[in-house]
Amino acid sequence: MKASNKHEWWQSGIVYQVYPRSFMDANGDGVGDLQGVLAKLDYLQWLGVDAVWLSPIYPSPMADFGYDVSDYCDIHPLFGTLQDFDRLLAECHRRGLKLILDFVPNHTSDQHPWFLEAKSSKTNPKRDWYIWRDPAPGGGPPNNWLSNFGGPAWTLEKETGQYYFHAFLREQPDINWRNPQLREAMHNVLRFWLDRGVDGFRVDVIYHIVKDDQFRDNPRNPEYKPGMNPHHEFLAVYIADRPEVHDIISGMRKVVDEYPERTLVGEVYLPIERLVMYYGEGGAGVHMPFNFQLITLPWSAAIIRDAIARYEAALPSYGWPNWVLGNHDNPRIASRVGRPQAKIAAILLLTLRGTPTMYYGDEIGMHDVPIAPDQVQDPFEKNVPGMGLGRDPERTPMQWDPSPNAGFAQPQVRPWLPIAADSTTVNVETQRGDTGSILSFYRRLIMLRRAKPALSVGGYSALPVEGNLIAYVRTDAECSDGECFLIVLNLGMTDARFAVEDFRGRVLLSTHPDREGQAIAGDVTLRGNEGLIVELSR
Ligand code: GLC
Repeated sequence: MKASNKHEWWQSGIVYQVYPRSFMDANGDGVGDLQGVLAKLDYLQWLGVDAVWLSPIYPSPMADFGYDVSDYCDIHPLFGTLQDFDRLLAECHRRGLKLILDFVPNHTSDQHPWFLEAKSSKTNPKRDWYIWRDPAPGGGPPNNWLSNFGGPAWTLEKETGQYYFHAFLREQPDINWRNPQLREAMHNVLRFWLDRGVDGFRVDVIYHIVKDDQFRDNPRNPEYKPGMNPHHEFLAVYIADRPEVHDIISGMRKVVDEYPERTLVGEVYLPIERLVMYYGEGGAGVHMPFNFQLITLPWSAAIIRDAIARYEAALPSYGWPNWVLGNHDNPRIASRVGRPQAKIAAILLLTLRGTPTMYYGDEIGMHDVPIAPDQVQDPFEKNVPGMGLGRDPERTPMQWDPSPNAGFAQPQVRPWLPIAADSTTVNVETQRGDTGSILSFYRRLIMLRRAKPALSVGGYSALPVEGNLIAYVRTDAECSDGECFLIVLNLGMTDARFAVEDFRGRVLLSTHPDREGQAIAGDVTLRGNEGLIVELSR
């Protein structure tokens, strides 16, 4: 369904991230797979999302759970086959769902045939597809660049005596986008999937893909203190967000633009003013650089009000906004803000101006699952243990029903990560039958958003409020009846009074069902954790 003729599907629609290892295990090995995703498409359609983004499903030694790709143009046997993929894509399209793949252009696996060739000799034609340097004078790594996952970003390749650069694990050598053959090979990867019919890509760490060509040392971070993430000892000035990156992204964009109605979404963790540069000059960059502010900022109404205003002001005229509440790299929203506030977060995500991206399981209020030391899977946690950096807690299996493995896998199977202890109550089946559940709330919110274009593609204006409140109006400029909606959210746990002269309307949806249908005029006192969507009368 197109919410508006003037908008593309990726502007009006809702994106739902599936972490395939953890969504649904159809073949009984404890790891989710494509047949599992296929089996749950009816659920996603019922929920009302528009597009599914799959984290990597390609062949991979799984050093970083698929973000170490050893073949960009095939499917890992754990997940299925290319035939399974084609079937999944066809079934998505039959249901009106779009399918977005994860494209990992910063690095390959060290087992990728390109790297095996490249490391075989200094004169191999693929040598320059990766980033090689001689040791520093006197030995050791060529400069002070650090890996995001702990330790130096350089590993010595003994046979040829040079170091290769890896922004992440040593099993993830960075590729050299300055090399024209490499560029063409990566463009052909995009074409391979676009030809099969995929609707777009989420591009992994897109802001990292070019490094300083002079290999200058990164400056020390004056705010770094022992005990912090060791990667932050230096500022990533020379390894990320380099000016040359935009030209490379515009090359990717040209490839995607060879096909109609496709989209590029970039993973970019940068301050807003830098982030918006990734729309590219005149829109030659990605369609949407992910806006992670609802993940990275403290859950404070004043801070979020300010962030929304700064974001709206910083967007270029051709930049379509977007919001993200969770992903496979960050603690879950329910754990960060608590379950009552998770509903408030859902309203923000689904009624702010811009495309929302949801993370699987957030719609049932899944929280981070504690991982015992002997259950740890994430290489980040293994490299930098005990600092709370591990990402396993937010990657645990989806909770489908109250059965022992939560319906993710058959009961006799051991899932690759543990199932949450509260899955007997926090699961899709139980919550579908409960009108007061967070899942029922999400669904009604999504249905309302689908029915009222003002809430997705309409105009936005902030209302001046203080304290724990956030308030704004969404208007449907295109609609002849000009519908207007007021959204008021209480991010605090105590009552908060909202008063704006001259407004009257009826509550369409609330975190507190007793409020729904109520007429309000002039002012309203919200209880703690209360949020309202009000249809304004004209
Ligand atoms: C991105 C991915 C993350 C991965 C990293 C390296 O940040 O989201 O999961 O570990 O890139 O590919």
